[in-house]
Order: sequence, then structure tokens, then C-alpha cells
Amino acid sequence: MRTIVAGNWKMHKDRTEALDLVMALVAEAETLPAGVEMVIAPPYPFLAMAAERVRGTRITVAAQNCHEAKQGAYTGEVSVAMLGSIGVGACIVGHSERRQYFNETDAAVGRKVKALLEGGLMPIYCCGELLEERQGEQHFAVVERQITEALGALDASALARVVVAYEPVWAIGTGLTASPEQAQEMHAFIRKTLRGLAGDVADAIPILYGGSCKPDNAAGLFSQQDINGGLIGGAALEAASFLELVRIGGRK
Ligand code: 13P
Repeated sequence: MRTIVAGNWKMHKDRTEALDLVMALVAEAETLPAGVEMVIAPPYPFLAMAAERVRGTRITVAAQNCHEAKQGAYTGEVSVAMLGSIGVGACIVGHSERRQYFNETDAAVGRKVKALLEGGLMPIYCCGELLEERQGEQHFAVVERQITEALGALDASALARVVVAYEPVWAIGTGLTASPEQAQEMHAFIRKTLRGLAGDVADAIPILYGGSCKPDNAAGLFSQQDINGGLIGGAALEAASFLELVRIGGRK
């Protein structure tokens, strides 16, 4: 099973700061454990620079969003082909912040996943429940709907190229993290749901945990059977903490 540690920079850093962070990661890339994949998702303006700097290293550059159409009159949007043409290899889609602030639905995110697969990029599909949904014991139903509505139309060979990230919304940027047991319970449920869609292929789909994942809590999370690494926000903004998380991922 693959282990992936991905850093989502969200809307942080200017050009100089972004370049400094990329170079600090590149400098250490060869010292990292061989078994872990390292992904960074800087903001759009820095993707081309990041992709050039990581060329020939083990780091993959991801975008944080894309548009589903191949091209067209969609002012302000970015296509999968554009991303691929500058060396971007992956893309986060369906992040809860995009669902919340940009009204992205499961169906719309599903179309982005399909566009990414057609364009040869690795989709990192985010799912996860709100606090009130967990308190109302709706969390399994919510995540099942997110998975089946966005990914249900893919055949097994397409699904095999998807990475899933479980990010409980109540744990994002709050300092509250799901306990390893809570996270494992949901990851096992996600894998069962994926198995229902794609059979045994599900056993090889990486499922990352995200939400206040830091060097001091990552070992407990990443050691769980169905947690195959992390999608990191705040702790991915500094080279030292992100590299530490990648090293912890490499112990899996
Ligand atoms: P934090 O690690 O800052 O909680 O963010 C998680 C996240 O949203 C990654 O996509």
C-alpha cells in the first residue's frame, strides 16, 4: 500500500516565501524514507515555479482546484490540461472550504475527478462531515453520500487512480483532531464503501487523514491500518514540520 503525505498550502505565502519552502523541501527530498510519496499543493501562481524546482526529485506538485471543462469561456478558471502542461501531477478536489465557500457539490466535484483522470492527473478527493453532522450521528451517511455521488460512476480501473482524503470539517484548522480510533473507524468505513463500488481495487486506494495533523499526533494516526498518510494544512507551511510528517509517514 502506498503512503502519501500531502501539504495543502491553501491561500498562504508570497512568491519569495513559496520559493523558500519549495527549496527547503527539495534540499531534504533525498534524505526522506523511500516508501513515502511527498506532495505539495501551493497556490496557482506558484505552481509552475514549484513544478520546475521539483523536477527530478521525489516531490509531486498538486493544484488545489481545477475546472471540469477542457477549455472555454470560464473566466478565472484553470483547466486540467493547463496544469498538466506545466508539470503539475495531482490536484486536490472537493476540499470542504470549496464546498463551503464556493458551493461545490458532490456531483460537480465528481466531474472534476473525471476530468483529472482523463487528463492523467491524480485526484485527491476530499470528504468529511461537519461538527453538527457528527453530533447528530450522521457522519457515516454523509461520507457515504460524498463518496458514492462523486466517485460512484467511475469504473474500477479509474477508481484505482484516485486518492481519498478524509477531513472531518470540525478538525480543520481548529487544533481538534480526530482520535486515531475515530479516524480509523471512518477510514475503514470509506474503504468498505469503495469496495462496494470497485471491489478489491479498494484495498489499494490510499486514504489520507486531514485535520490538525501535526508531528505530535501523526504517529498515532498514520499507524492505523486504513490510514495511508495525511493531507496537511497548517503544519505544511513550515519545512521542518512538514518534513517531520513525511518522515513519520515513512515509518508506516
Ligand atoms: P489543518 O492541518 O490546518 O487543520 O488543515 C487541514 C486541511 O484542510 C488540509 O487540506
